[in-house]
Amino acid sequence: MQQTIPPFVILGCGYVGTRLAQSLLADGAQVRVCARRTTLLEPLHAQGAQVHYLEASRSHQFGPAMLGLDQPIVVYSIPGVIGMPQGEAVRRAASAALRVHARAFIYLGSSAVYGRSEGNSNSDWVDEDSSTAPSDPEAATRLADEAAVASIAQSGLRTVVLRLAAIYGPALASHLPARGVRQRIRSGQYRLFDGGRYYFSRIFIDDLVRVIRASADHALSSGSVLSTYVVGDDHPCPQLEYVTWLSDHMKLPVPPSVDSHLVGAGQVIRGRRLNNARLKRELKLALSYPTYREGEAQIDACEQTGSLPPLRLRDAAASTPQGGPQGTSTPPALPPLPTAQSGADLGETLGGTALGCQLLRLSTGERCDLTGPGMILAGYVSVSRRGQIEGAGPRTLIPSGASVFNIGPDAAELLLFSSKS
Ligand SMILES: NC(=O)c1ccc[n+]([C@@H]2O[C@H](COP(=O)([O-])OP(=O)(O)OC[C@H]3O[C@@H](n4cnc5c(N)ncnc54)[C@H](OP(=O)(O)O)[C@@H]3O)[C@@H](O)[C@H]2O)c1
Repeated sequence: MQQTIPPFVILGCGYVGTRLAQSLLADGAQVRVCARRTTLLEPLHAQGAQVHYLEASRSHQFGPAMLGLDQPIVVYSIPGVIGMPQGEAVRRAASAALRVHARAFIYLGSSAVYGRSEGNSNSDWVDEDSSTAPSDPEAATRLADEAAVASIAQSGLRTVVLRLAAIYGPALASHLPARGVRQRIRSGQYRLFDGGRYYFSRIFIDDLVRVIRASADHALSSGSVLSTYVVGDDHPCPQLEYVTWLSDHMKLPVPPSVDSHLVGAGQVIRGRRLNNARLKRELKLALSYPTYREGEAQIDACEQTGSLPPLRLRDAAASTPQGGPQGTSTPPALPPLPTAQSGADLGETLGGTALGCQLLRLSTGERCDLTGPGMILAGYVSVSRRGQIEGAGPRTLIPSGASVFNIGPDAAELLLFSSKS
């Protein structure tokens, strides 16, 4: 039996916080989202989140943000607080979490802790045990935050530090732009550095949300008070590989290359490959978007349909709303429709004569090869045909001969026409 999800407090609710909150709300959890610009959080409020004003640079802010919730899980997702000593805002937040008996404190950090890669190829693999770079200014800031988390963990608070790769994904709401290089290639602002030879890791937003939630579960079930994970996908690659593929995919020219030292970027390029083995082993996670191809296909699907699929990580039957403003009344049940069986003729399923078309249902992660044309009725899939992969959502026509792979969180439904019709 699945356990009820504990309440969550998200300190700093921007791109990551919004998707995390959306997934928790979809699973019926109680969620409090905190930031300075609370008007930007109105869409989450409409979905059932509690909204709390928070200015991390002021004193006595974090305790009130957590009050009234029963032993919440606290997620710290504020990029950096200007005007405070390094690590101080995180220390205050974790101390407040300890005082309210939070079940766990999850700090969203950065793989910048490894500093600038010095190797010629910039292709070093790094993991949780690799040496960090305290002399690098950005690494030092993140390491000070991590030290603050570790120090509170000594008092018994279960803590998780996530060292994140670059995050990419679709627009999550009208006020939040998409993340990643796609928009910058479109606007002509994107540049390769030194021919694109540096390796980069990335993580798709929905996989990151899975990681955050799995790390919370792990913190509660394992005896460990401090867990650290490097978070990236399965396919770190040179900038040139990704950008060439994406430019071709969007039918745009490959962006020009610049000398990183001439444009001052030589100091900030942190080419490296993140090894996610511990993450997958300890959190028992398989990524849904293991490479940029699956992630970009999902962004295609969102752009084509103008909608974002819900991210439910629990069975609907197991999720129980726990008060808060999300307690909306349940609509009356509709009379049941005839159940369409995968592979059965649709006309016959509806009690009439055969129509020569079938309904196909694909579970998450399932694929099939189409012998005739089809149309997606529900869900989000990636469509592979003649070496090209594209994302597709409801009402998209799929040509004969394509392979369809369900990349969405829910079952996908397709209407298949026989190749003769
Ligand atoms: N995006 C990436 O590629 C990436 C990569 C590695 C690590 N990370 C880290 O992951 C975390 C989440 O990233 P993200 O992309 O979701 O960031 P984001 O979209 O910039 O969101 C940050 C949130 O923090 C809030 N915030 C900022 N300053 C605050 C303050 N002084 N007091 C209270 N709230 C404050 C912002 O809202 P207001 O401005 O309205 O307060 C916003 O809601 C950050 O720590 C980021 O550094 C991100």
